[in-house]
Amino acid sequence: MEPFSTANPDIVFENRLRPKSFADFPGQTSIKENLQIYIAAAKQRSEPLDHILFSGPPGLGKTTLAGIVSAEMGAEMRVTSGPALERPADLAGLLTALKPGEILFIDEIHRLSAVVEEYLYSAMEDWAIDVVMESGLYAKSVHLTLPRFTLIGATTRDGLLTAPFRARFGIQERLDYYPPEFLREILRRSAEIMKTPLDADGADELARRSRGTPRIANRFLARVRDVAQVKGEGIINREMARHGLKMLGVDEHGLSEMDRRYLECLCRHNGSPVGLKTLAVNIGEEDDTLENVYEPYLIREGLVIKTPQGRKLTADGYTAIGKTPAADLFAR
Ligand SMILES: Nc1ncnc2c1ncn2[C@@H]1O[C@H](COP(=O)(O)OP(=O)(O)OP(=O)(O)O)[C@@H](O)[C@H]1O
Ligand SMILES: [Mg+2]
Repeated sequence: MEPFSTANPDIVFENRLRPKSFADFPGQTSIKENLQIYIAAAKQRSEPLDHILFSGPPGLGKTTLAGIVSAEMGAEMRVTSGPALERPADLAGLLTALKPGEILFIDEIHRLSAVVEEYLYSAMEDWAIDVVMESGLYAKSVHLTLPRFTLIGATTRDGLLTAPFRARFGIQERLDYYPPEFLREILRRSAEIMKTPLDADGADELARRSRGTPRIANRFLARVRDVAQVKGEGIINREMARHGLKMLGVDEHGLSEMDRRYLECLCRHNGSPVGLKTLAVNIGEEDDTLENVYEPYLIREGLVIKTPQGRKLTADGYTAIGKTPAADLFAR
C-alpha cells in the first residue's frame, strides 16, 4: 500500500500509470520512431536534443512523452507552465538554474505572455538572455549566458503559437487519438499496475468507448474497477464494463453527456450551420473548451464538420444520437 497522501488523487493516480520508457508507451508509433532517432543522434554527438513541441488534444501523452524523452537522454527535467511564467524574471530564474543538457518542460506553452516569449527566443537560439535589472532611471541590461538546454513545449492549442515561436522548435510532433488496439494495450498495463483482473472483452469494451484517449481509458478503468469490486466478483469483463460505463453516462459510441449535448444542439438546427459561440451558450460550456476538447474528436470521428459558416452534423452524427435527418438533408 502506498502511504496516505494529501496530493490531488487524480494526479497521483495519473503519475502511477505514467509510462517511463518508449517500450511501455503503446501507440503514436511514428512519433516514437522519430524521437528515438533524434535521441540516438544527439547522444552520439554528445549534444543536447533540439527543442521539441508536442501538440494535440488533452490526455494523449504529451507530458508523458516529455518525461520519457528526458529519461532516455539521461537528463533532469524541470517542469513549469505558460501561466506560471508571468514575468521575464521568472523565466530568467529558471533558465539560469539549468545545467547543461537539462530539459525545461513548459506545459500550456500557448499561454506564455508575449514578453516572456520574446525572452525565450534568444534563450532558445543563442543560449543567452539580456535581462533588464531594476527599472526606470537605473535600468541596466545584463547579458547572461545560459547552458545548452532543451526546451520541450506542450500545447493543446497549436494554432495559437506565433509563427516565429513555432519555427524555433526543431522537432514538432502532433499527437493523435489512439486506435482501440493501443488503448487495449494501455488498459492491460494499467490493470496490471492496479492489480485488477481485466479480461480481453472488458478491455475491448473500455477501449472502444474511451474517445481515443488514454487518460479517459484509465479513468474508466478505475471507476469500473470500483463497480466490479462492489457489484461483481472483481473481474472486469464486458458486462461489468458496460454496467460501469452506463453509470458514468458514457453511451454505446463512447460519447459523453457533453458530446451528446453538442450533437443534439446541432441537430435542433436542422442542418443549418451553427457558430461556435451559439453552441457554447446553448450547451453552457466555454467555447474554448468546446473547440479544443470536444470538437476535435467529433470531427475526427466524422460526426461533425466545420464549414466557414459554422458547424454541421453529418449523417453519422445523426445516427450517433439516434436521430434521423430530414429526408432531403443529405440528398441536396
Ligand atoms: N501511449 C500511452 N501509453 C500509456 N499511457 C498513456 C499513454 N499516453 C498517455 N497515457 C496516460 O494517460 C494519462 C494522460 O497522459 P498525459 O498527462 O501525458 O497527457 P497530456 O497530453 O499531457 O494531457 P494534457 O494536455 O491534459 O496535459 C497519463 O496517466 C498517462 O500515463
Ligand atoms: Mg500534460
